[in-house]
Amino acid sequence: MALERTFSIIKPDAVAKNVIGAIYNRFESAGLRIVASKMLHMSKEQAEGFYAEHKERPFFGALVDFMTSGPVMVQVLEGENAVVKNREIMGATNPAEAAAGTLRADYAVSIDENAVHGSDAPESAAREIAYFFSEEEICPRTR
Ligand code: TYD
Ligand code: MG
Repeated sequence: MALERTFSIIKPDAVAKNVIGAIYNRFESAGLRIVASKMLHMSKEQAEGFYAEHKERPFFGALVDFMTSGPVMVQVLEGENAVVKNREIMGATNPAEAAAGTLRADYAVSIDENAVHGSDAPESAAREIAYFFSEEEICPRTR
């Protein structure tokens, strides 16, 4: 299978817990390569735009408040089957339902503060990557 890219966020709760490196280790151990990465503190407008698909949902306001409550790490992950692989590493949206050994089982405390974001399909991955990164900021493997 060809290399695929997905988009990932380490959310403010996990950054506050000081587990960026632990989470990066999970990606790398699963065969995903970090090909772009930066820390940023999202503005309200940035978070609202990123989660626009959820704007009619009851949790939207709380989600935007949470995502702007502190810095996040955003990254592009590259590897075979990267979208599905990252969702497997993450575990279910609700940590109470997340399989043992997944990021959300280990680092999330609730459905609204659930440690990580990952694209749910190749199409959303392309859109989400472009939302935070220019093509020049992405550094694919050369050796
Ligand atoms: P969603 O895209 O359904 O989950 P995922 O992050 O697994 O793709 O929802 C986006 C985020 O919205 C989710 O990570 C946390 C928040 N959220 C809530 O706060 N409450 C909810 O009931 C749901 C479904 C999501
Ligand atoms: Mg989603």
